[in-house]
Amino acid sequence: MNKAVILAGGQGKRMKAEMPKPLFKVLGEPMLRWVISACEAAGLADICVVKGFKGEMIDEYLGGKYTTVLQAERLGTGHAVQQAIPFLEKDKSGNTLVLCGDAPFIDEETIRSSLEMHEKQNNAVTVITAELDEPFGYGRIIRTENGISGIVEQKDATDEQKAIKEVNSGAYWFRTADLVELLGKLDNNNAQGEYYLTDTISIAISEGKNAGAYKSDNADIIKGANDRKDLLELNNYARMAVIEKHLANGVEFTCTDGVVIERGVTIGVGTEILPNTIIRKNTTIGVNCKIGPNTVVENCKLGDDVNLHTVQAYEAEIESGVKIGPYVHIRPDSVIKSGTKIGDFVEIKNSVIGEKTAIAHLAYVGDSDIGKRVNIGCGTVTVNYDGIEKSRCVIGDNCFVGCNTNLIAPVKLGKAVYTAAGTTVTRDVPDYALAIDRGVMKINEGYTLRKLKTKLGK
Ligand code: UD1
Ligand code: CA
Repeated sequence: MNKAVILAGGQGKRMKAEMPKPLFKVLGEPMLRWVISACEAAGLADICVVKGFKGEMIDEYLGGKYTTVLQAERLGTGHAVQQAIPFLEKDKSGNTLVLCGDAPFIDEETIRSSLEMHEKQNNAVTVITAELDEPFGYGRIIRTENGISGIVEQKDATDEQKAIKEVNSGAYWFRTADLVELLGKLDNNNAQGEYYLTDTISIAISEGKNAGAYKSDNADIIKGANDRKDLLELNNYARMAVIEKHLANGVEFTCTDGVVIERGVTIGVGTEILPNTIIRKNTTIGVNCKIGPNTVVENCKLGDDVNLHTVQAYEAEIESGVKIGPYVHIRPDSVIKSGTKIGDFVEIKNSVIGEKTAIAHLAYVGDSDIGKRVNIGCGTVTVNYDGIEKSRCVIGDNCFVGCNTNLIAPVKLGKAVYTAAGTTVTRDVPDYALAIDRGVMKINEGYTLRKLKTKLGK
């Protein structure tokens, strides 16, 4: 079976952080996740990650889903892959893809096509390469008339070799059985005193095995980050690539300032995304919506014709024709049914808001089930927490909840109930009733004048 080994031992000193470099994020996902996703998309399920610096953070992130091995000392890329020998030896029948965990843009197509060439040419090893205008720092591919003869690292290269623009991406296909054998033959006689994985190529050739190079026309597969500036560049690059994909699908952007859309997001035709809008994780958005400005949507499911203006919404379902904002916070596990309007300074949490209901301003609705065509007045609060436990409020269809109503949970309003403004509802209210809780209002004539007189003597 084919499998993958991902090198994730690097610290990335210039990042100035106590974190393995492959865990730095590009568009909200660690670079290591991008590499794993590409492997999985290409059908590689058996994955071994070689960890080094702060390896426990890699384990914590992967949550036991993949094999990991520790490279205790950083003695080179060949030494890193040697740590995976027990993983390779479990099944030597197929091929192994070796990748760098900090080059996030390796893609499914490159993985598949290079494997095809690797198998067709019956190679022991096939290196994935690309041409760079500025090849400085990378291993150069030495081509011969009928293939390649090896890879020369920057620090070991002659001036003539330094002029070569085809470079090693750091990704390779190996026949697994050959890889195990070749790893045993590496030495560290080179300018850096490291065990170079790249030496496997010249060794294979010297033993009469085939070695090849697959040149990708996608030079981005080489992109990595050595410092925060590089990481920002990767983010900018990925951000625009995602936006361009949506543009091609018929999504409208008049200005992309502050717009960040993660890879897992789907957006329907005719939807407009306005500035300062961040759409994260597996959010799906229907057609003809207007999202933004100043909006964050994370892991939400939005229907068609939804309008969000200055909204933060997390883990929620918002059905078609809903209009929300500005300054609204929709917290997890909320369902906002179609045709609902939610206006300024409203917070909704773990609640169902029925169809065509209006919550126009300044309200908190938590742990509640609200029916259809309800009007929630300004300042309404569902009092869902007594300091120990949370309870639910239920509000029936067609209720009119007056301004500044407190609903002390658990409590239920039946159908078409009115609550008078300022009422604190402490018991269930039957269908069609009015709940009113008020002292008798008094008017004390001339009060202000008397007060001024006694206080100021005037
Ligand atoms: C390596 C290649 C070079 C190629 C370049 C592509 C070798 C000898 N050279 O360069 O031909 O053009 O990648 O980026 O392989 N790593 C470990 N343990 C180690 C050393 C490295 O896990 O002991 C990991 C790094 O974290 C990184 C990857 O291997 O993910 C590549 O290492 P890096 O030092 O960045 O590459 P170079 O050796 O410069
Ligand atoms: Ca190195």
